[in-house]
Amino acid sequence: MGKLDGQVALISGAARGQGEAQARLFAREGAAVALGDVLEDDGNRVAESINDTGGQAMFQRLDVTEASSWTSMVGETVSQFGRLDIVINNAGIARLKRIEDSSLQEYLEVIMVNQVGVWLGMQAAIPALKEAGGGCIINTSSTAGLEGYSGLGAYVSSKFAVRGMTKVAAMELGPFNIRVNSVHPGPIDTPMIRDPELSRQSRGELSLTSPIPRAGHVDEVAKMMLFIAADATYSTGAEFLIDGGVTAGTMIAPGTD
Ligand SMILES: NC(=O)c1ccc[n+]([C@@H]2O[C@H](COP(=O)([O-])OP(=O)(O)OC[C@H]3O[C@@H](n4cnc5c(N)ncnc54)[C@H](O)[C@@H]3O)[C@@H](O)[C@H]2O)c1
Repeated sequence: MGKLDGQVALISGAARGQGEAQARLFAREGAAVALGDVLEDDGNRVAESINDTGGQAMFQRLDVTEASSWTSMVGETVSQFGRLDIVINNAGIARLKRIEDSSLQEYLEVIMVNQVGVWLGMQAAIPALKEAGGGCIINTSSTAGLEGYSGLGAYVSSKFAVRGMTKVAAMELGPFNIRVNSVHPGPIDTPMIRDPELSRQSRGELSLTSPIPRAGHVDEVAKMMLFIAADATYSTGAEFLIDGGVTAGTMIAPGTD
């Protein structure tokens, strides 16, 4: 018996990184999973490998910045799997640029994917979740939705916005039995923080001085997503932190020499 038997989950940005791990875990727990991403080869490969190992998966190209792409993704998911119960708005990008050096276009590129993409994803999915009698939306924010990071102005703006819109959605959708929560990962070992410029200046390095002195693993985030989707039945509008203690405070006297 899987924790998600009979349920259908749609995950954006599922071609690699955290989204891929979530798709694989949710499929192992019995959900049919719909993977959306702009990376078509990687997305198809992940869906095929889930199907080859006894799971149920489909991939469709999804650009989270386009409303029509979302409409088509949700429509195809319901048409293939019959319903929609869980949505993880996971797709995201990061660009390292100081505010004074950023063009409006560079700012909006990040806002469109990380912020507008989540907004559009919720809008597209709500009718199908209502039709299913309820469900669960999980929006991927970040520790950058809780505190500032120099050089990540657009990213931080977008992740604070995701945290805010999650709370509004939770209030609007509670009466329809739909829970909406945000997840706030710290540094997680994925292609995003392996990007040479980002990892040079990011918490990828600072994580070595955090209470848990390593980057997180994608499976650790996936397990939290599973907990929220399957077990956290009294949590909505909440912020789930998974950051190795990075936001606990400033380490000035580490426990070991
Ligand atoms: N890795 C970290 O340290 C970290 C920390 C906190 C939050 N996050 C967030 O976690 C989420 C997953 O990131 P990740 O670490 O797996 O990085 P990743 O770069 O490996 O994965 C992000 C995925 O989003 C997809 N994507 C980008 N633009 C898209 C678009 N317009 N439409 C559809 N898909 C698109 C990418 O193709 C990629 O597959 C992101 O929202 C990210 O901001 C990451």
